[in-house]
Amino acid sequence: MAWQAKFMVQNGRVIPWEEGRIHPHALAVTYAATVFEGIRAYRHPETGAYAVFRLKEHLDRIMQGVKIMRFENPPSLEQMHADILRLIPLNEPDDDVYIRLQVLVDGPGTQATRGPTGWTVVAIPRERSPGFGSGLAVGISSWTRITDNSMPPRVKAVANYHAGRFVTMQAKADGYDTALIMNNQGKVSEGPGACLFIVRDGRLITPNRGSDILESVTRTTVIQVAREMGYAVEEAQVDRTELYVADEVFLCGTGQELVPVASVDRLPVGDGKPGPITMALQARYEALVRGTTADHPEWRTAV
Ligand SMILES: Cc1ncc(COP(=O)(O)O)c(C=O)c1O
Repeated sequence: MAWQAKFMVQNGRVIPWEEGRIHPHALAVTYAATVFEGIRAYRHPETGAYAVFRLKEHLDRIMQGVKIMRFENPPSLEQMHADILRLIPLNEPDDDVYIRLQVLVDGPGTQATRGPTGWTVVAIPRERSPGFGSGLAVGISSWTRITDNSMPPRVKAVANYHAGRFVTMQAKADGYDTALIMNNQGKVSEGPGACLFIVRDGRLITPNRGSDILESVTRTTVIQVAREMGYAVEEAQVDRTELYVADEVFLCGTGQELVPVASVDRLPVGDGKPGPITMALQARYEALVRGTTADHPEWRTAV
């Protein structure tokens, strides 16, 4: 059995897991005034030591969300950093840790209410995607991706996942593992909880910043790592039919990690098996997050 969370942090205080509280009339609930981060801490296979992957980048992104959402008096970066690092050992994990940090409006008010701003941190187990080794069956969703001029995908707002749920529920009802979403320009954007890469003729292509994506920490990592490994990487608009003719397709994100796509709309990707570039990148990503390579120590914050 997976380990169980025992403690969480709410507004800077460590409290037992069961004692976390948000009032039902707080804006966090009434208008989904919440931004969040999903962050992973990995356990080193030999030493058992934990390191949080790209903590700084996740904290920078939540502060961008806080600014765009105009929350008043948010917690400082230093406070959130310290809360995450102290919470992990208190929960006595015996495997990798998934951290969810939320910043939210913690009181009642109108749509224009900007505070008081509260925050919560939980550290829980999270399993790997079932497609990690064999690949996922994905479909193209009939829902359209949210867009910057109505519901900005750049902000990791809880409310955005209302749209993601429609996509995920439709994908499951249609017999897929997950789906990819087209934006209102008719171009491929991303999945409901992960970014996307395709491989064509040895080059990696990922939907660009203007494709209504979340500016994913893992996507940035993959772009850099792939280039270091000698692959060309292009950020561009991606058409639906490019997915059908791609040699390889994979999803990436903190939660998903790096997971191959075996088919799109029931058409096999390549020969329907995870491709060599995807699997090489997956192995490299695993070594970097877990610290079994000494490269990029700046990406791992020791717990
Ligand atoms: C909609 C969406 N896109 C992309 C990602 C990947 O972002 P990151 O790599 O920063 O975790 C996530 C979260 O994992 C997400 O929820």
